[in-house]
Amino acid sequence: MDFMPFLVVPLWTSILHLDFVKGSFVVDVTQSSYQAEENHNITLEWTFTTKPDTSISSLKVFCILNNGHKYWTFYHLFDGVEFSEDQDKKFSGRVQSDKDGLREGRIRLQLSRLRTEDSGLYLCEVDTGYGHGYNSCRLTVSGEVLVIGSNLPIISAPGDDVILPCHLEPMFDVQGMTVEWSKPDLKPNPSDRLSRVEYVHLYRDRQEVPDMKMASYFRRTELFMDDMKHGNISLKILNVSEEDNGRYRCFIPKLQSRVKAAVVELVVGQKICSIQTELSDLESCFVYYFNSFPNFQSHFISLL
Ligand SMILES: *[C@@H]1O[C@H](CO)[C@@H](O)[C@H](O)[C@H]1NC(C)=O
Ligand SMILES: *[C@@H]1O[C@H](CO)[C@@H](O)[C@H](O)[C@H]1NC(C)=O
Ligand SMILES: *[C@@H]1O[C@H](CO)[C@@H](O)[C@H](O)[C@H]1NC(C)=O
Repeated sequence: MDFMPFLVVPLWTSILHLDFVKGSFVVDVTQSSYQAEENHNITLEWTFTTKPDTSISSLKVFCILNNGHKYWTFYHLFDGVEFSEDQDKKFSGRVQSDKDGLREGRIRLQLSRLRTEDSGLYLCEVDTGYGHGYNSCRLTVSGEVLVIGSNLPIISAPGDDVILPCHLEPMFDVQGMTVEWSKPDLKPNPSDRLSRVEYVHLYRDRQEVPDMKMASYFRRTELFMDDMKHGNISLKILNVSEEDNGRYRCFIPKLQSRVKAAVVELVVGQKICSIQTELSDLESCFVYYFNSFPNFQSHFISLL
């Protein structure tokens, strides 16, 4: 079936029509803008003036999404019958209407499994036989916020100050949230039932919480407070030593996301110095990377 959507009627005709019936028939939105997250569901709602004892058998509803460049058919009801054939395939199987609501003058359209590209202006045009009008609302779908660390290890020499990178994407203000940095490979002491894994750095209520901080990191760690509103939760560790080697985990327990944590590996080389008395009394030192990264052994030998 090939339908000519009645929205193709030039807009000025609709406006004239609206003017003509002004006061007697109104299409309205219950909310002019909606915000939602990717993968969630949302119900967009329009209302229109009803007359008592009217059936929906002559009701026509045509809704589109307009993102400023293009439009897609979102929902089409013709003489009370849904035409899913008309619906754009990007919406197929994702739009559910509330048939009972139609009788009461409510168009409730649930859009499920939201995608960021569902963002835009949703416009519904309604023709009841006794009135005609349209209205629109805006939907903004934001992508799921993910915690991102680093695939590459952070290579350093003893005594260096290092930054373990970790941030949220898209940008997300974490100033009011709890941020935990820990070493996931450290297990609680099995002989001490009360012992708990301690933190490298714990941030809560907008400040560092030194309780339960590993003694070896005392006064050596800091977050970039000013950048946390942009989702930067990188950790600075001062004066690293070989004992700091290993995997670090940044974690935001309350983040509404499937990815609340990321891991960053820190590799601190071993510094070996010798004094070559036969040439001079100069001490020469090398940093070797033995542990965990055989590939780096040859690549990252550096003369200090
Ligand atoms: C979204 O809607 C779908 C289909 O209607 C349903 O299966 C799913 O549970 C809903 N999800 C949420 C988060 O409400
Ligand atoms: C986070 O802040 C640190 C320190 O200013 C900077 O080096 C790093 O590049 C920032 N990370 C991001 C993702 O902006
Ligand atoms: C850096 O740490 C080493 C031990 O790993 C310590 O001997 C030295 O004093 C520290 N340096 C500074 C500037 O704190």
